[in-house]
Amino acid sequence: MPPRREYPPRSVTAADLGGIDPNYRRVLTRLLAAHAMAEKLTALGYQRAIETVENAALRPVLEKTFHEEHKHARLIYSALEEIGVSEKQADRTMITVVRAPSFEAPMHFAQQARGELDLLMASIALDATGLVMIGVNYRDSSYAPHAAAAEIILEEEADHDVFAAEQLGRAVERFGPEPVNAALREWMPRAVNFFGPPGSGFTFDCIRYGLKSRDNQELADLFLAMIEKRCDQLGLELPELTKEYPHAAA
Ligand SMILES: [Fe+2]
Ligand SMILES: [Fe+2]
Repeated sequence: MPPRREYPPRSVTAADLGGIDPNYRRVLTRLLAAHAMAEKLTALGYQRAIETVENAALRPVLEKTFHEEHKHARLIYSALEEIGVSEKQADRTMITVVRAPSFEAPMHFAQQARGELDLLMASIALDATGLVMIGVNYRDSSYAPHAAAAEIILEEEADHDVFAAEQLGRAVERFGPEPVNAALREWMPRAVNFFGPPGSGFTFDCIRYGLKSRDNQELADLFLAMIEKRCDQLGLELPELTKEYPHAAA
């Protein structure tokens, strides 16, 4: 059973934190630190793509996306500063988290992705997932500054996702379905794991405090349904995934 939501959307500001359950602040800080890190790694991935992707026609959109992801990270780090947590402090709390399966997609994009197919898959794994996470969960956050940042981020993520959807069609035209299917087999487990484990105590707290509205599993299912539709339209195969988190190609 999902817990009852205790704080309505946009009802808490930084100034209110002193007067409410101190655990709210702890949960909020951890959530914002993870969001900021995800945006920062995504920005790094786009920066890497600018340096490594050979197709010059993609450069303007990569530059634009890089700047927007950088801005998203700044927005969330500013929200953290406002509650007395510096970027360094926030990042320090993420040292083990970034090695967990839920961060494999952004870490791989920031550190290892190569070439156009990897870029496309990263865009599906980070922008399409981001659109779901931010649109469904954070836009109605009880923490007003996070809801406000989500509103700004969301508009740009919608653009990034349009790019991912278009590129998927173009990739099939250029490379044929086989390499795209292989890339999907490699990336879809990472993309789905990015939502995090289902039914965790942390998510329970997030839902109770109104910092998220849905469980990770529900978001992952929404994302999979969206990608499945795109794959069907293009004659691509969405890979089977193992049932348990962290998911792997079955
Ligand atoms: Fe972003
Ligand atoms: Fe994005």
